[in-house]
Amino acid sequence: MRLKDRTAVVTGAASGIGKAIALRFAAEGAIVVIADLDETPREGGVTTVSAIEASGGRAVFCRCDVSRADDLTAAINMAVGLGGRLDVMVNNAAIGTDTPLLETSEADWERVMSVNAKGVFLGCREAVRRMVTQEPRGEVRGRIVNISSQHGMIRAPNDFAYGVGKATVVYMTRQIAGDYAEQGIVCNAVAPGKILTGKTGRAIAPEMLAYSQSRTPWPRLGRPEDVANAVLFLSSDEASYITGENLMVDGGWMAN
Ligand SMILES: NC(=O)c1ccc[n+]([C@@H]2O[C@H](COP(=O)([O-])OP(=O)(O)OC[C@H]3O[C@@H](n4cnc5c(N)ncnc54)[C@H](O)[C@@H]3O)[C@@H](O)[C@H]2O)c1
Repeated sequence: MRLKDRTAVVTGAASGIGKAIALRFAAEGAIVVIADLDETPREGGVTTVSAIEASGGRAVFCRCDVSRADDLTAAINMAVGLGGRLDVMVNNAAIGTDTPLLETSEADWERVMSVNAKGVFLGCREAVRRMVTQEPRGEVRGRIVNISSQHGMIRAPNDFAYGVGKATVVYMTRQIAGDYAEQGIVCNAVAPGKILTGKTGRAIAPEMLAYSQSRTPWPRLGRPEDVANAVLFLSSDEASYITGENLMVDGGWMAN
């Protein structure tokens, strides 16, 4: 129970990787706020809250658009209402356009940036605003884990705005880690490689999977649980002198 009685907000936790993070946190004793546009998992199956409750854990859903500061404040207030504080903020929600530069309209750019960049900025700002008012647990007042991507460091084929947004997340993580270390805020990122989430469409088109496997030295592609385990580590007391880091969970994609 590495997060026993800790409270966490996980954005985009209705589906995919966010859902796996929320399930892992709850299994480790956390009270988890599932902050998402919609409770229905994109990949089908039961909702995150139902899955957590069925295993005896604690979770609530909060309808939240991460591009709106008020929605994030409401999600954080929900966590504080349940557990008295916000221990962990995971900024996971993200979208893409599946377009290169010349096919990316201004509207596409603004839509992606409002989630992938502004949504993480707001999630960090509202979390830090709350965390700096809390008494520290040991050395740490609160922890942030931002979900970036290997495509924040190298080009994102056919997803220009997505990649730029992810690069922004890596930068923001370092800046916040440096600016708020004095106040006991730990801020890290986790960069997944190709993770199979149960999504359909382009994400699992044969040529996309073949490309991802050709880039990944490890003989399989990633699972949501691979990312969740790394996020759990960075959210636990085991990782207190690690801050400003962008931890690859990519089967060696970036080493290749
Ligand atoms: N799956 C991969 O291969 C992969 C690789 C690298 C990085 N990532 C990153 O991991 C994270 C999760 O990816 P995933 O594959 O699980 O995605 P997903 O599309 O399966 O899930 C994203 C979730 O975010 C929610 N969401 C979207 N816009 C939102 C908004 N404005 N406000 C609140 N919630 C919103 C969606 O409703 C959905 O539940 C993302 O940050 C993504 O960029 C994923």
